Amino acid sequence: MTLLIFLRRKLSLTGTKLGCAEGGCGACTVMVSRFNPHHNQIIHHAVNACLAPLCSLHHCAVTTVEGIGSVASKLHPVQERIAKAHGSQCGFCTPGIVMSMYALLRNSPQPSMQDMEEAFQGNLCRCTGYRPILEGYKTFAKGASTHSGQQLFDPSEFMPLDPTQEIIFPPELISLGKQPPRSLRFIGERVLWIQPSSLNELLELKAVYPAAKLVVGNTEVGIEMKFKNLLYPVILAPAYIQELSSIQYTENGIEFGASVTLTMLGKKLHEEVNKLPNYRTEVFQAILEQLRWFAGQQIRNVAAIGGNIMTASPISDLNPVFMAAGCKLTLTSKEGKRALQMDDKFFSGYRKTALKPEEILLSIEIPYTKKGQYFSAFKQSTRKEDDIATITCGMNVVFQQGSNIVKDIKLSYGGIAPTTVLATATCNRLIGRRWGEELMEDACSSLAEEMTLSPSAPGGMVTYRRTLAISLFFKFYLTVQHKLAQMVKPTYVCLNVKPNYASAIELFHVDSPTSVQLYQAVPPGQSTDDMVGRPIMHLSALKQATGEAVYCDDIPQYENGLYLALVTSTKAHAYIKSIETDDAMAVPGVVTFVSAKDLPGSNKTGPAVCDETVFADNKVTCVGHIVGAIVADTQAHAQTAAKAVKISYEEIQPVIITIQDAITNQSFYQPVRTIEKGDLAKGFHESDNILEGEIHIGGQDHFYLETNCTLAVPQGEDGEMELFVSTQSASKTQALVAKALGVPASHIVCRVKRMGGGFGGKESRSTILSTVVAVAAHKVKRPVRCMLDRDEDMLVSGGRHPFFGRYKVGFKKNGKVMALDVTYYSNVGNSMDLSLSIMERALFHMDNCYNIPHIRGTGYMCKTNLPSNTAFRGFGGPQGMMVSESWISDVALCCGVPAEQVREINLYKQGEYTPFNQCLDQFTIDRCWKECVNISDFHQRKARVELYNKQHRWTKRGLSIVPTKFGISFTAIFLNQAGALVHLYTDGSVLLTHGGTEMGQGLHTKMIQVASKTLGIPTSKIHISETSTNTVPNTSPTAASASSDLNGMAVYNACQTLLQRLDPYKARNPKGSWEDWVKAAYFDRVNLSANGFYRTPDLGYDFETNSGHPFNYFSYGVAVSEVEIDCLTGSHKNLHTSIVMDVGKSLNPALDIGQVEGAFMQGVGLFTLEELRYSPQGYLYTRGPGMYKIPAFGDIPTELKVSLLRDAPNEKAIFSSKAVGEPPLFLAASVFYAIKDAITAARAESGLSGPFRLDSPATPERIRNACEDKFTKLCPPPEPGTYTPWDVRV
Ligand SMILES: Cc1cc2nc3c(=O)[nH]c(=O)nc-3n(C[C@H](O)[C@H](O)[C@H](O)COP(=O)(O)OP(=O)(O)OC[C@H]3O[C@@H](n4cnc5c(N)ncnc54)[C@H](O)[C@@H]3O)c2cc1C
Ligand code: FES
Ligand code: FES
Repeated sequence: MTLLIFLRRKLSLTGTKLGCAEGGCGACTVMVSRFNPHHNQIIHHAVNACLAPLCSLHHCAVTTVEGIGSVASKLHPVQERIAKAHGSQCGFCTPGIVMSMYALLRNSPQPSMQDMEEAFQGNLCRCTGYRPILEGYKTFAKGASTHSGQQLFDPSEFMPLDPTQEIIFPPELISLGKQPPRSLRFIGERVLWIQPSSLNELLELKAVYPAAKLVVGNTEVGIEMKFKNLLYPVILAPAYIQELSSIQYTENGIEFGASVTLTMLGKKLHEEVNKLPNYRTEVFQAILEQLRWFAGQQIRNVAAIGGNIMTASPISDLNPVFMAAGCKLTLTSKEGKRALQMDDKFFSGYRKTALKPEEILLSIEIPYTKKGQYFSAFKQSTRKEDDIATITCGMNVVFQQGSNIVKDIKLSYGGIAPTTVLATATCNRLIGRRWGEELMEDACSSLAEEMTLSPSAPGGMVTYRRTLAISLFFKFYLTVQHKLAQMVKPTYVCLNVKPNYASAIELFHVDSPTSVQLYQAVPPGQSTDDMVGRPIMHLSALKQATGEAVYCDDIPQYENGLYLALVTSTKAHAYIKSIETDDAMAVPGVVTFVSAKDLPGSNKTGPAVCDETVFADNKVTCVGHIVGAIVADTQAHAQTAAKAVKISYEEIQPVIITIQDAITNQSFYQPVRTIEKGDLAKGFHESDNILEGEIHIGGQDHFYLETNCTLAVPQGEDGEMELFVSTQSASKTQALVAKALGVPASHIVCRVKRMGGGFGGKESRSTILSTVVAVAAHKVKRPVRCMLDRDEDMLVSGGRHPFFGRYKVGFKKNGKVMALDVTYYSNVGNSMDLSLSIMERALFHMDNCYNIPHIRGTGYMCKTNLPSNTAFRGFGGPQGMMVSESWISDVALCCGVPAEQVREINLYKQGEYTPFNQCLDQFTIDRCWKECVNISDFHQRKARVELYNKQHRWTKRGLSIVPTKFGISFTAIFLNQAGALVHLYTDGSVLLTHGGTEMGQGLHTKMIQVASKTLGIPTSKIHISETSTNTVPNTSPTAASASSDLNGMAVYNACQTLLQRLDPYKARNPKGSWEDWVKAAYFDRVNLSANGFYRTPDLGYDFETNSGHPFNYFSYGVAVSEVEIDCLTGSHKNLHTSIVMDVGKSLNPALDIGQVEGAFMQGVGLFTLEELRYSPQGYLYTRGPGMYKIPAFGDIPTELKVSLLRDAPNEKAIFSSKAVGEPPLFLAASVFYAIKDAITAARAESGLSGPFRLDSPATPERIRNACEDKFTKLCPPPEPGTYTPWDVRV
């Protein structure tokens, strides 16, 4: 059992959250403290509770978020500051971040910014964009830059940090820790855990149980048991055995016990590097560089060196270094010790080593380096922080004394073969030769021959990996050349690295971020009770920071409650021949298996069209299709049993996975939508130039930190059922559950307190899980709950639609676009879901902000055998606009005109009409553009970029300005309605309910601000408890950015009704208080409950006639971004972003800026980082944070300016505000096009110019491959069609 399960299930301490169960998100972070008797020291560490085995915590103190403070008693400054700095939106990540910060402060009460950035490497947040978290916590740091611009919070309000007030380490644990170690045995249902007290006992045990696993950090074994379904019946835990934890100096280096943690290793090596001359510590420095990018701190605090070596992973970060450095390993068993050199014989196969079963690794000796020896290590990964390597390597060269003639060289690579390998042939060719250009060229050609990969190699990215192997050697070559040239009076000629090559050898480093936020302050005369327009904190933020906020899975367990685990298809397209459940039913605690047979109502479901099933009946149409579910007493039992269900299939052809497959098979959903305006033929005729192009935009997983969760509680009579759900669509959940259960909707209540993020992912797909859980609860007549594991959630719930855009664009020589014919293809998956509306929105945004006189857009929805794709922030808009920016970029490159100029001359003007004939009134793009150019210092920045690019060959900078226009309203007209219900109680308190759900965006906070202003009472008197279908019926999903507009008006309407009812009592007692008036009305038998309603007027669009208004209004924004790319590795840094966003008259600038920054960072993920990878058979590889990389703290722009446009009231929404949730997301395209700009500069060095295709996301792989040069030429891509790739682009 993990510590996390124990805390949440046994102790009901639900503040610690489950986000991934694989150490990749940090939501489960707690502080573990232990006494180290050897150093007589108490050690505090941030640890991932999801991987920490409970058995490993003997004599440890565990501090959870509940332990450091609470709203009910006293907040801890760490909790207060993240909340007040607006660093908590949905709050699901917040306790984990609080605990990472807390653990840091326990070790260092005044940390540096760098300490803080390191402490957060293992924490993810999907909502905030990280900036406000850092801003709040900067107040603890020494030497942090001060904030410029307006403050969204007042640091002088913060409680001071008083380290003397912290909880002390229990003294009894110190005395227990001083006692001689005792061996421990924990006997579980499936595993025997033994903690031996001495090395001898360990070796005896290993002789008895040769197959036993040694577990120190459990960061490998834990993953294998959870995700690879491996079972290790005996586990030996050697963490406390002194010989395995010792660090000793030897003649040649330092010997580290195998259980020494990576944190300890780093600390020791740092000390040595600071103490010893540089030339002695080349290997140590290389290891430190690898550790800088090794996992997050929570993992490094527990993971051991031995675990890394013995896992024998081909992408281990340390093994290539150890191998290239020729480290010595000491192995031991009952039979005695033996020493082994870590060379290419040590790893005998994939995850296999030369150790005998009864042997263990005792220690590793890491050598000092000598004069004339140079060592480097490199790691390249998709995301810099906390990511597994694509290629990782250690490179070691020794020169003949006083010369630049190679005496010995070792190049060791991970990520090229099933084991860590040495490039022996290449090295042999280099021995005896001078370090110079000729050697380099020869080494690169040789590496290209030696470091080959099958085109079908697991992990894919074959061309990139091969190119990297060479490019990283080139970096090593330059690094060594530079060092040789620094030598005092060398006896040989060694030219220093050319100045324009120098940046190629710089270590990747980003400066600490700084930020500015600008917004319109409320006018001086505004009443202090009027909270509208003020940056007030999210009203749940404090509870979220203390772990007191209740999410769906935090609801206490019912005594007779059960857990559910899904059984899903492993085939993409097949008939189900049989389902065998005997083994599953034999698992202890299993109650039943639920399938299509158990539905009392209809098995047909779907949010718009009922074209899918609750449970697959006789056929599956995607991997991850839900076939059934197991219900058991615990989650572990349910999951074990679910894995034991055997399904046999008969495969059906064709299996359609990619958009290209769908085009080939003409597999489309109907209708095919078209919007057309003007005369295309005329437009092309009038053009000076016509070009055609394509872009593919990959999909995106929502990665809300809280996965889908439902608790269904049968009420015992009339088929009534109450559901607690994490959903954006309470009414849809109610309706679809009622349909499946065959009862009227009035018998089902759906309740939503809050969600740990939604982003569209819980708009429709959440209903499937809710229906499954409800059917199970109906069958067993007991409460049933299910919170999906991250891998299940990613597998079954779909994401943003991948899009493919094909365009033909006609334009004048100056870049003015005359005609555009664009076709969109979206990968819809195996059911329609909301895909038609998504495609329509893509078409409504095909113009972005550009006036094209003759235009036609056509949208095809591809029917494929993937899980159904769905709503995701932007809802097709970003994909629609991304294609338009692609042809803008092509036009600019073709005309040789700067892209910003092409954008500017094509921009709409006030009063012009869109392709769907909606007039652009209250048009603010020109104002946003000017302000953004101004605050970003665009023109000077551009000059600096150009200069930089002239001076640097292997790093390039790029700059881009991108506008956005986003239509506000549901395009399904009937959804543009909302309701509210307001109760006044006789003590004057107000209970507010409305149709919207809270998912972190601060909707409830805004609604309370609206009610407070309307009723004229402080926000403290108003409470929102939840969203429920029995208070406000027939609600629209909380989506389309329109929820504040719609629900705000409904709340306003209800409050106005109540005010009118109170008016007579106010008139009678004008000096009375709110409470007096409410009481007076009550005694006068006045109804103190009112509902409100709103429908957006004048909406309606007809595709047939291309007339009517699809949108109530538009939100506008502009962003400028500057990036720097490393042309040799494809990495990039986000140097600067300025955003100007028109949010009307902001209801709450703190929440709105939070939405702008959060959406922007999600867009950065979409366009530069996040890549869903599928096998050709439709199997999703990327099912967790380990392989799927959302932006982390380190990805935020070094300089981020956000300005909310001033004096831009919007008369079409509540209190002149504007929608903000989705519109800013697309502004992250400025980062993508800045990258493209930088690549253009790199290509120019190789004589390449003109348009080129760059698909989204702009990952390191795509960037590197696009920066064509002499190294890429050595690794031509394999001929398409001649092999089966490991993954396909869907
Ligand atoms: C989120 C996350 C991020 C990660 N990031 C990285 C990364 O960036 N780079 C990287 O290289 N790895 C990474 N890893 C992998 C892993 O953390 C490391 O390999 C780590 O060093 C394993 O150490 P451990 O103590 O946790 O191993 P454990 O899981 O405790 O053990 C791992 C294996 O080593 C064996 N073993 C341990 N000690 C001995 C011994 N003394 N003798 C014989 N066998 C022994 C065990 O039997 C077991 O098979 C990551 C893992 C996670 C979960
Ligand atoms: S839940 Fe533990 S790191 Fe994600
Ligand atoms: S606030 Fe961080 S994940 Fe939602």
